[in-house]
Amino acid sequence: MRFDRLVAVEPTDLDIRAGEFFSLLGPSGCGKTTLLRLISGFLKPTTGRILIGGRDMAGIPPSRRPTALIFQNLALFPLMSVWENVAFGLEARGVAKAERRRRAEALLELVALAGSADKKPAELSGGQRQRVAIARALAVEPSVLLLDEPLSALDLKLRQHMRHELRAIQRRVGITFVYITHDQGEALTMSDRVAVMRRGRIEQVDTPERLYEEPATAFVATFVGGSNLVPARVRRKAGTECLAETPLGNFRARNPQDLAEGAEGLLFVRPERLRPAAGHDNRIRGRVVERAFEGPFLLFTIETSQGQRLQVQWLNEGDVHALAAEVEVGFSAGDARILPPGPLADER
Ligand SMILES: Nc1ncnc2c1ncn2[C@@H]1O[C@H](COP(=O)(O)OP(=O)(O)OP(=O)(O)O)[C@@H](O)[C@H]1O
Ligand SMILES: [Mg+2]
Repeated sequence: MRFDRLVAVEPTDLDIRAGEFFSLLGPSGCGKTTLLRLISGFLKPTTGRILIGGRDMAGIPPSRRPTALIFQNLALFPLMSVWENVAFGLEARGVAKAERRRRAEALLELVALAGSADKKPAELSGGQRQRVAIARALAVEPSVLLLDEPLSALDLKLRQHMRHELRAIQRRVGITFVYITHDQGEALTMSDRVAVMRRGRIEQVDTPERLYEEPATAFVATFVGGSNLVPARVRRKAGTECLAETPLGNFRARNPQDLAEGAEGLLFVRPERLRPAAGHDNRIRGRVVERAFEGPFLLFTIETSQGQRLQVQWLNEGDVHALAAEVEVGFSAGDARILPPGPLADER
């Protein structure tokens, strides 16, 4: 998709399965909303096709597509009651008033707002208003619900609560949800699958578990979850593993993309996979330069004698106060991967 000379979304083959909770995750400006507007029909693709349920959507206006869209900043009609808001789209479709009321009540029950039909939006909390917006979008019986950062206006606590609500609603109605967010926590907790986008390009499409455990690029590794990256070179290959040469020493690591001997890359280990050194072949010694007590965890930064800083996360098992000024951390080859060099996420 082009806007003059700017390519907002590169040509992409993306297959979203019927009935799945699918998230588009990426930093601001990477093209998420553009992709959603292409699916909903508010934008015409410069090239390529959009198919929904196998049907080519070319020439079909948004109102005739089997989609409904919930915007970044939703707006309910303040003077209408909750049920009238929900039933709004049905009037235009010629549904009689008694039937509109009946369907609105059923949808309000679905989003756990059964008693609120006659209230005004102003009498509801932010999360409740959000659920009214969802009920309103579902009223026209879409087969795909498109949600553009629908929780961004809510405070943190409510947002976390709504993650579970949204997921539960999706399971109940069983339709496809395409959910946009730049919050990796939201994407990981709610989705069946996630597409990570960077600058109009999809970097990886995978389940939350695989995105976290098997990031395909340095960008995905740094955008999703905490990360440590150390410049490395493949010194010797051994099956699916390799010996990685780094300024901190040589380490055994997985080589999932089969980088050739001599190839440059980045050695990647998550902060919680750097554990107390005992029992590990891969070891790194460093001085503790920062520490943050997080209750269940201790987060700390170590600096090696070469000046490399590494993030470490240890579970609080009652002994974290005893953290020495100098520590040795270790990791298994299975918890380390060598990734091809590439841009990192600079915004989380
Ligand atoms: N109508 C338009 N005309 C020109 N450029 C546009 C238009 N809409 C979007 N863009 C540009 O396309 C790129 C992608 O924008 P898009 O709104 O899809 O990003 P996004 O991933 O949804 O970001 P955010 O998380 O901030 O909402 C941006 O560089 C944006 O400036
Ligand atoms: Mg957007």
